[in-house]
Amino acid sequence: MTRPTIVAGNWKMNGSVAMAENLTEEIAAGAKDSKAKLIICPPFPYLDAVVRTLGDSEIHVGGQNLADQPDAGAYTGEVSGAMLRDIGCWYAIVGHSERRSLYGESSEAVAIKFGLARDAGLVPILCVGETLEQRESGQMEAVLKAQLTAVIDMHGVDALQDAILAYEPVWAIGTGKTASPEQAQQAHAFLREQVAAQNATIANVLPILYGGSVKPGNAPELFAQTDVDGGLIGGASLKAEDFLGIASAAS
Ligand code: 13P
Repeated sequence: MTRPTIVAGNWKMNGSVAMAENLTEEIAAGAKDSKAKLIICPPFPYLDAVVRTLGDSEIHVGGQNLADQPDAGAYTGEVSGAMLRDIGCWYAIVGHSERRSLYGESSEAVAIKFGLARDAGLVPILCVGETLEQRESGQMEAVLKAQLTAVIDMHGVDALQDAILAYEPVWAIGTGKTASPEQAQQAHAFLREQVAAQNATIANVLPILYGGSVKPGNAPELFAQTDVDGGLIGGASLKAEDFLGIASAAS
């Protein structure tokens, strides 16, 4: 089964309008022959600048989060899936470990957002991953399973069709420590098996991205793993050269 390589940049809370425009221009200019499907996820205030700069480029845009409410209303500070779609997004990251750990999002809350993203016509990029403590105490598989199962239990395995999964071990995010290609493959294969146990066809086509200190230097080996279908890139997505270097690891 050959799945397309997807490389998504999560800018997190970084940038300015000028930076968003410049970086997007550089990425778009350098990505013309990219074999990877590219996605840019800037902070909400810069979505419009990025969408406009991309014009009819094949690069798509995603939100880093979305509200846990379906309809417009009195939810100060929140941004709905419909608003993201309205402004030109096709994707939304849900359940990033920073949302889970810093903003208290439970797996149930993440599952609700996953469903709302789909309802709004967005492709959810569902992030799962264990902490170092969980890995070292042998709980990695249980944690990944629980985070994934929360979504399947709420929406059914069919909801993973037209979705993206991202394995982001918390201990590798922004730390410079990358999961080895073998560690990444092991976790990705485990995740795919969990889905396959319920629907092998969906498991086969489900893109599973790796995130955690991906750099141009380590991307080729990571992306070469059977079940690693690309990357969700933090720090290195803020430099066009690095982001494009990672994208060029797509075969
Ligand atoms: P880094 O690439 O900076 O480790 O971040 C990974 C990440 O959290 C992407 O969502």
